[in-house]
Amino acid sequence: MGSSCFTGAMEAVSSAVIKNKDLLTDLDRVIGDADHGINMSRGFEAVMKKLESTQPQDLQSGLKTVAMTLISTVGGASGPLYGTAFLRCSKAAEGASTVTAELAEKMFRAAIDGIESLGKASKGDKTMIDALEPAYAAFSEKMKQGGSLLECMESACGAANKGVEYTKTIPAKKGRASYLGERSIGHQDPGATSSAIILKALTDYCRTAGKE
Ligand SMILES: Nc1ncnc2c1ncn2[C@@H]1O[C@H](COP(=O)(O)OP(=O)(O)OP(=O)(O)O)[C@@H](O)[C@H]1O
Ligand SMILES: [Mg+2]
Repeated sequence: MGSSCFTGAMEAVSSAVIKNKDLLTDLDRVIGDADHGINMSRGFEAVMKKLESTQPQDLQSGLKTVAMTLISTVGGASGPLYGTAFLRCSKAAEGASTVTAELAEKMFRAAIDGIESLGKASKGDKTMIDALEPAYAAFSEKMKQGGSLLECMESACGAANKGVEYTKTIPAKKGRASYLGERSIGHQDPGATSSAIILKALTDYCRTAGKE
């Protein structure tokens, strides 16, 4: 995936998030304050507008633009968390013009580290981390086996979906859902769901871009 594909990848992510606005909001209505889909689609609509008006110079600056736009428009807990994730991706992409499996792994790790250092959530707290950590582990494992970027992404997606299912089985320990305690069991986490949606959009884009 070259830097010219960057805008296409971000369009794919944005349209997936916007398409799932109601799902994300409905999930957040049950264990939160019914704004996750609204927050996320506002952010990614702004990202699309921004990328239409300013063609990014390179991968690093494009990712930084996405990060700053999300931080300033998403709001809630997820805005700064996803913003930080993209900011860390941007730093990890310094000097790069092509997204190889190696760079993707580095960006993925950096993004999760950013989310964890800001939000202090760990696996099992019923947050986006429950989708992202297993996804990263699956990505890394596939890479060790010599998998292509697409194969690594596909493994990551499968693990993220399992992580989303896992969030149904545990009580929330972070964010607004934690006020519900045990009553949050049985409901899937909205942030874990949006993370899985973003990973799937990137994977589908990677598959299509590879065929062109
Ligand atoms: N400390 C945290 N670390 C990682 N993810 C978190 C954290 N707190 C919340 N989240 C994620 O953010 C999602 C909620 O995002 P939303 O856009 O609804 O913001 P919010 O309403 O301000 O959230 P909240 O009230 O849960 O903090 C949760 O489903 C969870 O996955
Ligand atoms: Mg909310």
